[in-house]
Amino acid sequence: MKIVKTRDYDEMCDLAAQRIIKQVKSKSNSVLGLATGSTPLGVYQRLVSDYRQGDLSYDRVQTFNLDEYVGLSPDHPNSYCYYMRENLFSHLDLQPANTHLPKGEVGEEVCRQYEEKITKAGGIDLQILGLGLNGHIGFNEPGTSFSSRTHVVELDDSTRIANQRFFNSLDEVPTHAVTMGIATIMESREILLLVQGEKKADTLQRLLEGEITESLPGSVLRRHPRVTLIADEGALSKVETSHLNS
Ligand code: F6R
Repeated sequence: MKIVKTRDYDEMCDLAAQRIIKQVKSKSNSVLGLATGSTPLGVYQRLVSDYRQGDLSYDRVQTFNLDEYVGLSPDHPNSYCYYMRENLFSHLDLQPANTHLPKGEVGEEVCRQYEEKITKAGGIDLQILGLGLNGHIGFNEPGTSFSSRTHVVELDDSTRIANQRFFNSLDEVPTHAVTMGIATIMESREILLLVQGEKKADTLQRLLEGEITESLPGSVLRRHPRVTLIADEGALSKVETSHLNS
């Protein structure tokens, strides 16, 4: 894993946005895997500012999001569909038919169809990931099999509490979500893992220095041949310097 340490959140977002822009410039029909949550917000802002310069088109790009809550309609302000529209999709010239999120519905068929769409698009060229406090990637909570495909998950209490900040109360946070599986994520040709802030320092230390284990889903990324971790000083504050240089 290549590790890039940044001074702060802004520098992390600058580097991640530059990598995505480079991807779309070099392959106009790139397939991007996208994440939601707080971490990528600054990255999306930079993609929008860059797009407004007028040099880059996304009209042949396809996107696949990692996850969606079960039970929230696409117009619910806390759905990931809404988040993506507000923060990215409506600001770029992406074709709506080329932007995909898993349907927030329980059902094997829905999950299978999502996998098929990714395969039909030719697989994901560049997947953006954030990291949960409990080590989840997508909504693959601790204990999820490394061979999982797109599936419905029951969210950990810790994840619901972490995401409560976007809702009025904990009761409103959905209990289930649909997420790309770990095997699905690992099939991406390249992965950018973004981690910000001291509160994730313990998790990131375990991810980089501990066992590769299903108890810490993000640790699987050490088996992927092309992962770049971009993290700020706070997030990397507990990682041995020798690991940073390797
Ligand atoms: C979001 C996702 C999650 C988040 C993770 C970190 O689509 O898949 O794995 O990336 O929960 O969330 P933030 O960035 O809000 O700390």
